[in-house]
Amino acid sequence: MWSKHQVVLFLLLGLQAVVNAFVISINSQLSNHQSSRYPSVVLHSSSSSLANSNNNVPHHHVVRGIECIEVPMDIPEIGRVVVLEATAEAQEVLVNLALEDDEKPGTPCSESQDAASLQSGDPYGAVLWPAAYAIAARILQDPTYRTELPQMTVLELGAGTGLVSLSLLLAGTKHVIATDYESIPLELLEYAVDKLNNNPNTDNNQQQQQEFSITYQLLDMRDHATPLPTADLVVAADIMYEPKTGRAMAKRAVEALQQGARVLVGDSPGRPGRGAFLDELQNLGVVGATFVDTVGYTCSGPRHDLICGKDSTSVSETPQELLVAIMELDPKVHLSAETVISGDSS
Ligand SMILES: C[S@@+](CC[C@H](N)C(=O)[O-])C[C@H]1O[C@@H](n2cnc3c(N)ncnc32)[C@H](O)[C@@H]1O
Repeated sequence: MWSKHQVVLFLLLGLQAVVNAFVISINSQLSNHQSSRYPSVVLHSSSSSLANSNNNVPHHHVVRGIECIEVPMDIPEIGRVVVLEATAEAQEVLVNLALEDDEKPGTPCSESQDAASLQSGDPYGAVLWPAAYAIAARILQDPTYRTELPQMTVLELGAGTGLVSLSLLLAGTKHVIATDYESIPLELLEYAVDKLNNNPNTDNNQQQQQEFSITYQLLDMRDHATPLPTADLVVAADIMYEPKTGRAMAKRAVEALQQGARVLVGDSPGRPGRGAFLDELQNLGVVGATFVDTVGYTCSGPRHDLICGKDSTSVSETPQELLVAIMELDPKVHLSAETVISGDSS
């Protein structure tokens, strides 16, 4: 027969074995969960004061079959705004779709609604660009704009991940119309609006629900048969990476001015469409249109070489100061009797 001490010792050892087994099981479940959710390499580290994420581990989401990471940005006057960017691997998928699209122009890359597909073969809008911060900051640091936003409709062209549209929505703009010719960026933006930020639209306050709104619209700037939606302010950030887009932007700027809207265009250094934009504005009779340098920041997320080449000034390991050119056009100042819309922008 066992003594009392032996029985107590036996029970304690048994209890410890059960506890150990339980702890090992929990640890293994946690590590399985983390390895399926996060890659072993941290793809996006935003440790500067410009953008910080919790624990420096990017939060992942899958939107329309695209693996995305949260990009938190600190925007003047409103604070933290979170947009979604495609991960490095997802950018690779989009670039491959764009390259396939080049081989078979006019055919959609994928028939499935849930899978990544490109309408125009353009993968650039799945990541954030420096002019978006510069434009959002320019508007939100201006007391006059801030006073006017609750009465304004703002239209964004080539919204991409939508930092400008989202910031203006969160700042209390009456109506934001975010447009792009690709649906993927608009879906990333809609997800960020609905799920990652305190959207006044989804606030329980009924009065706020009626006062603020955002709509998403597919719009090709070069399709001049489709008129611009009416707005008080038209904004565009880093859309002039091709001369044809620069020329189309000039025509859209004139169209907006003729509707009575102001126009704000932001352009990071080295974009090849800027010269064509300026030439076309001049051809169309816009007077006194000049760019002014303003403080912006490089982006720090991962970039596929074909989305943003190795020597690009737009991206660095951590955000660095960067001069972004901004042009502001006002119908009262920049339209002349000679201003016309003419010629083919393509
Ligand atoms: C370099 S990204 C900039 C995105 C965003 N504005 C930013 O600053 O982060 C250019 C954006 O313009 C869009 N875009 C390019 N050409 C366009 C066109 N002809 N019509 C509408 N959108 C266009 C692309 O799909 C992409 O989202």
